[in-house]
Amino acid sequence: MSPKIAVIYYSSTGTVHELAEAVADGARKEGAEVRLLRVSELAPEEAIASNDAWSAHAAATKDIPIATPADIEWADAVVFGTPTRFGNIASQLKQFIDTLGGLWAQGKLADKVYSGFTATATAHGGQESTLLALYNSVHHFGGILVTPGYTDPVKFVDGNPYGTSHVNGQGAIPVDDTARAAAVYQGKRVAAIAARFNAA
Ligand SMILES: Cc1cc2nc3c(=O)[nH]c(=O)nc-3n(C[C@H](O)[C@H](O)[C@H](O)COP(=O)(O)O)c2cc1C
Repeated sequence: MSPKIAVIYYSSTGTVHELAEAVADGARKEGAEVRLLRVSELAPEEAIASNDAWSAHAAATKDIPIATPADIEWADAVVFGTPTRFGNIASQLKQFIDTLGGLWAQGKLADKVYSGFTATATAHGGQESTLLALYNSVHHFGGILVTPGYTDPVKFVDGNPYGTSHVNGQGAIPVDDTARAAAVYQGKRVAAIAARFNAA
C-alpha cells in the first residue's frame, strides 16, 4: 500500500514553498500519495501588501489547499516546512500545530513518521535550532522522527542532517540544485520509511 504523505508548510516569500514542492516530488517518486498543503496566513493584509515578494507569493499560492487536522489523521507521514523566525518556527505553523490537541488527546498523532525542513536569510541564522524546536513537538506527539542524517551523498553537500535547509540571502539567493536535491531526497526517505512501517 503506498504511504500517504502530508507536506505541510508556511512560506512568506516562496523559499520554503519551493522546498515543499521538491519534498513532495521526492515522496511521489518513491510511490507515495502526497498532499501538498499550506497553513493559514495570520499576518495582517497591510503587512503582506507592504512586501512585494510576500504579496506576489501569497497570490501565486492561493489555490494550494489549507492544511487541517484531518490531513494529519489521513497521513502516515507528515513533513513540516517553516522559515526561521528568530531561530524558531514561524507562528503560522505553530498555530496549526496548536490545533492538533484534539487528535493528540485521542492518541492519533502517535506512531506516524515526522520530518522537517527550513530556510533562513543568513548562513548561521538558526536552521538547526528551528528544526530542533519543531521536533520538540514530535516528541510530544509520540511520533517517529525521520531525519535525513548523512544517509545519502547529497547530505555531505547540503550539510544539514536535521533536515533540508536553504540560505536565501534575504531573497537574493533562490533555491539551488543542492537544496532541491536534498529536499527530493528527504521526501524519498520519509516515504520509504513510512512504507516500511505500513508493511510491518
Ligand atoms: C520576523 C522574522 C524573523 C526572522 N528571523 C530570522 C533568523 O533568526 N535568522 C535568519 O537567518 N533569518 C531570519 N528571518 C528571515 C527568514 O527566515 C527568511 O526570509 C525565510 O527563510 C525565507 O523563507 P520564505 O521565502 O519561505 O518566506 C526572519 C524573518 C522574519 C520576517
